[in-house]
Amino acid sequence: RQHLLTVDSLNRERVDHLLRIAARMEPIAQRRQVTRVLEGAVLGNLFFEASTRTRVSFNAAFCRLGGSVCDTTGFTFSSMAKGESLYDTSRVMSGYCDAIVMRHPDQGSVAEFAAATNVPVINGGDGPGEHPSQALLDIYTIDKEFQRLGKSLSGAHILLTGDLKYGRTVHSLIKLLSLYGPLRITLVSPPGLEMPAQLVDLVTSRGHRIEQRNSLASDFSDLDVVYATRIQKERFTDEMNESFQGLSNDFMVNRDFLDQRCSDNTIVMHPLPRDSRPGANDLNVDLNGDPRLAIFRQTDNGIPMRMAIFATLLEVDELVEKEMRPVRW
Ligand code: CP
Repeated sequence: RQHLLTVDSLNRERVDHLLRIAARMEPIAQRRQVTRVLEGAVLGNLFFEASTRTRVSFNAAFCRLGGSVCDTTGFTFSSMAKGESLYDTSRVMSGYCDAIVMRHPDQGSVAEFAAATNVPVINGGDGPGEHPSQALLDIYTIDKEFQRLGKSLSGAHILLTGDLKYGRTVHSLIKLLSLYGPLRITLVSPPGLEMPAQLVDLVTSRGHRIEQRNSLASDFSDLDVVYATRIQKERFTDEMNESFQGLSNDFMVNRDFLDQRCSDNTIVMHPLPRDSRPGANDLNVDLNGDPRLAIFRQTDNGIPMRMAIFATLLEVDELVEKEMRPVRW
């Protein structure tokens, strides 16, 4: 069975295929057309960690293909609260469902779960590991935004900023980006929260230029994309929480940063959620309403891309096009 556990399983050809299928899914996602190619299929949506976007958009994507969803959250919904193993849970669930999306706080746990199933498993985020569907919808968003602006990924300058150590979305995204280009990638993070060295080495070995800094105070006038991320405090030890308490606003992407250091064509992305609590410093609400802020176009793109992922893993991707028809309500 094919799974989507890490973007390592994707080459450029497969990503391009998913981008094409996602574009075909857009009329369904936007409710202009319907399809029921997954009628009778059941998705198990197993979320052992908080989620709004990933859980609900995977759910909606499966329903838009005609399937039904068993949606569950937290550890207490399952008999894992009574000590059942991931292996047994997986074996049982794969007897009930045709596909499973799983999020879990432990890195590697979704792969362990997938090893015991007979059905496709999609990693909805495994601790600080990976978040492949988020990275795919991010690439889809960059591609669409660049088409609108008449730009290309070849030669683009992309800034990833925030918590690059524990942020699983950027771990998947930087690997997917490295399939395109050549790119100039700037990584800006607080000291101690840098991108893991093996990922930097991998991307550099593929011919991309990477610069690493601990401050946003530079000229970014040639920047095409700034991708901000939240500081992942839930992954911190108590000791780390103390040391990062005084984190300054040096890593805040806000109107001043965009107006003074970037250009009119720099797009702003963020996997969300952005942290709106006092003292948080990832992406300021003062950019709300600015056309460069692509974050809600990005979340909308989650539906067609997740439909494309299901259609491809369940092998109905070619059928969808034939079965699409106008909305009747
Ligand atoms: N981007 C993302 O994973 O959001 P959720 O945590 O809300 O699913």
